[in-house]
Amino acid sequence: MTSTFPDITISTDRLVLRPYEEADIPELTAMMNDELTAAWTSVPAPYTTLEARDWIHRRAPLERTGGQGIVLAVTEYLTHRLVGSISLMHTNWRTLATEVGYVVAPWARGEGYAAESVLAIAQWLFRDQKFERLELRTAAGNTASQQVAQKIGCVSEGVLRNASIVRSRTEDGGWTDIRTDLIVWGLLPEDLEDAPEPDYRAG
Ligand SMILES: CC(C)(COP(=O)(O)OP(=O)(O)OC[C@H]1O[C@@H](n2cnc3c(N)ncnc32)[C@H](O)[C@@H]1OP(=O)(O)O)[C@@H](O)C(=O)NCCC(=O)NCCS
Repeated sequence: MTSTFPDITISTDRLVLRPYEEADIPELTAMMNDELTAAWTSVPAPYTTLEARDWIHRRAPLERTGGQGIVLAVTEYLTHRLVGSISLMHTNWRTLATEVGYVVAPWARGEGYAAESVLAIAQWLFRDQKFERLELRTAAGNTASQQVAQKIGCVSEGVLRNASIVRSRTEDGGWTDIRTDLIVWGLLPEDLEDAPEPDYRAG
C-alpha cells in the first residue's frame, strides 16, 4: 500500500493552506507568470491557463495520491486571496524525510508569508506526521529564498555543485538556461524547539 499524506487544510494566524480549487485558475496563472518565479523555479514560462488547469485537476492531486508529497494553495485568511503555493515532494516514507518548495505571489511578497507557511507545514510534519527531516534546496543566487530558510531555523548543510538549472533573461526578452550550484538546507524536529509557535491548526 502506498503511504500518502492526508487531504488537509492547515491554518495559521494569517494564512490558510488548502488544496487547490477550480476557482484558483486565474490567480494561479497570474502568480506563476512572474520574473522571479520563472528565474528560480522550473515552472513553464510563460505559464498558461491550460497549465494551471492541469496542475489543479491532475498533477497537484496526483502528488498526494501517488505518495510523493502534497500541494497546497496558500491563501490569506481575511481576504481569501491566493498568495502562494507550497509543496512537499520527493517524500521518503522509510526515513520520514521530505523536501519543501514554495512560491509567493508578487503581490504578497515581503510580508513573511513564505516563512509563515513553511514553518506551519514543518510543525505539522514533525508533530502530526512524526517526520524526522525537512529539506530545502535553494539556487546559490536566490537570496530571498535563503533568507526564508534561515529565518525558520534551517541549517545550511552543504552545496550540490552544478546540480540545477535556473533561467536568465536574454537581450531579446527571452529566457536562457544557466547551470548553478544548489545549497541544501535541513530542518529537524529539534531545530524547531525554540521556534515561536505559529499556532497552526490542521483539519
Ligand atoms: C522566495 C520567496 C518565496 C519569498 O517570499 P516572501 O513571502 O517574500 O518571503 P518572506 O517575506 O517570508 O521572507 C523573505 C525575506 O527575504 C528578504 N529578501 C527578499 N528579497 C531579497 C533580496 N533580493 N535580497 C536579500 N534579501 C531579500 C526579505 O527582506 C525577507 O527577509 P526579512 O523578513 O528578514 O526582511 C519569493 O521571493 C518568491 O516567490 N520567489 C520566486 C520563487 C522562488 O524563488 N521560490 C523558492 C525556490 S527555492
